[in-house]
Amino acid sequence: HRIAVFASGSGSNAEQLIRYFKEQAPDVGEVALIVCNKPDAYVLERAKKWNVPFLLIDRELLYERTEELIAMLKQHDIGFIVLAGFLWLIPPRLIEAYPQRIVNIHPALLPHYGGKGMYGMHVHRAVVANKEKESGITIHYVNEHYDAGQHIFQARLPVKEGTTPEQLAEQIHALEHKYYPKVVEELLRALPFSSA
Ligand code: GRF
Repeated sequence: HRIAVFASGSGSNAEQLIRYFKEQAPDVGEVALIVCNKPDAYVLERAKKWNVPFLLIDRELLYERTEELIAMLKQHDIGFIVLAGFLWLIPPRLIEAYPQRIVNIHPALLPHYGGKGMYGMHVHRAVVANKEKESGITIHYVNEHYDAGQHIFQARLPVKEGTTPEQLAEQIHALEHKYYPKVVEELLRALPFSSA
């Protein structure tokens, strides 16, 4: 299965996915394309380092010329989409083109601390401010609303007293890196074996 990772930030999860499928599960999948909406995002350096082609998109291509974007994904023979730090809402037409084949990771235990504007450090600051005893990660299918699709997997960690949002972010990132590639692998294994 050929995977497109949509990422517009640092891309540490994207890189874990690239590495995992190259080294641990090459018979199951391959990150064949990085899709990014920020020309200066660090994920593009990672894509170059691993020789993975990337596609820079803008709002117009995503929302007004969605069919063209879908055609580009099909040209690359993409059968599965993994969001990893991609903050724009996925339009309905793209979801229809990849039914149950688009997943996202969120750095908290949804349905808590999700929704528009709840991403990255905003999440961890809110968790710490509310003195939550635990946080974690949620991997879920993507629908047309932010962080609202069916849950696939959660992992939890205790938030010890005195933990800073920055420390929590680091712990959550480690959890994401540990589980995201494996969960994607399981999903791909359950699909019929054809790419698109
Ligand atoms: C991750 O924390 C993920 O949960 C969120 O965006 C962040 C991306 O981090 N949706 P990175 O770019 O993979 O380092």
